[in-house]
Amino acid sequence: MFLLAGQKDKIYAQTLANIAKEAGAALWTAKQFEEELNLTCAQIFLCQGKEEKEPFGFVCFRVYQEEAELTNFAILPQKQNKHFGTKLLAFALKNLLERGVKKITLEVSTQNLKAKKIYQDFGFKKVAIRKKFYEGEIDAELMLFTA
Ligand SMILES: CC(C)(COP(=O)(O)OP(=O)(O)OC[C@H]1O[C@@H](n2cnc3c(N)ncnc32)[C@H](O)[C@@H]1OP(=O)(O)O)[C@@H](O)C(=O)NCCC(=O)NCCS
Repeated sequence: MFLLAGQKDKIYAQTLANIAKEAGAALWTAKQFEEELNLTCAQIFLCQGKEEKEPFGFVCFRVYQEEAELTNFAILPQKQNKHFGTKLLAFALKNLLERGVKKITLEVSTQNLKAKKIYQDFGFKKVAIRKKFYEGEIDAELMLFTA
């Protein structure tokens, strides 16, 4: 159900871009996803059913030794609110912590109550506000998770 993406998954770049667009997550193009998969610091975790040909969700990180940044996270709208996002994030965090990551940061819109709730449930804490971070209007919360 949950997979760690790698070079061979470049084929999924368009699918990931479609998920991001449909979910209203950070709008990365297929090219951006492909470039991301090429970065040595990038880790992308996928949510995919055993019988399904393509993923329906993802969470992306950039990992720098003991520190990581969550850069993008989305589940297709028709699969949302079924706890796939929570389970995918749990899988990803377990994997990162097992590999020695001790600190994870992310930015989330102050208006994104669902995502904020999920992050808080995992122990992320608000550490700063970035004023008018999104489209010059909406504030972002900088959140920090420490192992
Ligand atoms: C954020 C996202 C990845 C979560 O995935 P998901 O599979 O829908 O989430 P889950 O079903 O695992 O969890 C939803 C939780 O939020 C709660 N929730 C739902 N709507 C909520 C709301 N408006 N306010 C607060 N909590 C809410 C649910 O009750 C559930 O909590 P529970 O586990 O205690 O029952 C997904 O909704 C998504 O793709 N959103 C659009 C893109 C996005 O916002 N990405 C994050 C950017 S930082």
